[in-house]
Amino acid sequence: MRILITAGPTREHLDPVRFLSNPSTGKMGFAVAKAAVEAGHDAVLVSGPVSLKTPKGVSRIDVISAREMFEAVKSEFAKCDAIVMTAAVADWRPVKMADKKLKKSEMSGVIELVRNPDVLKSLKPVNAKYAKKGKRKIMVGFAAETGEPTAEAARKCKEKGLDFVVANDVTESKSGFGVSTNRVTFVCSDGRVVPLPLMSKLAVARKIIKEISKPIAIHHESL
Ligand code: CTP
Repeated sequence: MRILITAGPTREHLDPVRFLSNPSTGKMGFAVAKAAVEAGHDAVLVSGPVSLKTPKGVSRIDVISAREMFEAVKSEFAKCDAIVMTAAVADWRPVKMADKKLKKSEMSGVIELVRNPDVLKSLKPVNAKYAKKGKRKIMVGFAAETGEPTAEAARKCKEKGLDFVVANDVTESKSGFGVSTNRVTFVCSDGRVVPLPLMSKLAVARKIIKEISKPIAIHHESL
């Protein structure tokens, strides 16, 4: 299989030195790319700005903003069999980006924002067309929540046409942004909810790849 993975944050620049972003370090997505290659798949990694080394055998495309990520994913999606979207895409960007550093005297203290495209959601109708030709692609999303993640993950799963969502509570200290471990729950399109214990991000990544390789059966036992 050819697996497309996104990782890291996006940056939404206000000027060349100021941007809106989030604390994503890309660890989860890079682990998924590594696990994909380990399992004998081709892996294409679309990454926001992070300071991680590309895992061996992975093709990497670097992007900065959500719109760049959107363009890269759109063109790679056609060539892949599955997508795992771990990236923490910024939902909003400043309406204007100045090409020179703004002087503080030029700033009003208010930043006007506009919505970024929802990358996964935009692929839902595209995948419906592939499905009609019997070539449906497997789609996996993440849901980083603060608080009980399951209900929100189920909503996102349906709304974005996903096979499953990997949900985690990012307020837990050993889970979420920056750390090397994660406690996640797989929330599946058929209603199954499979909580996993705390494990390394690479171990979580291997579970995800295993499920993509056989998407029909997600059983407690097989996890
Ligand atoms: N995602 C995306 N494009 C965006 C925002 C999110 O493709 N503009 C993807 C993420 O990579 C993730 C999934 O959608 O796989 C859920 O992201 P999340 O930030 O948890 O959810 P949102 O859709 O942004 O919803 P909300 O802000 O209501 O939590």
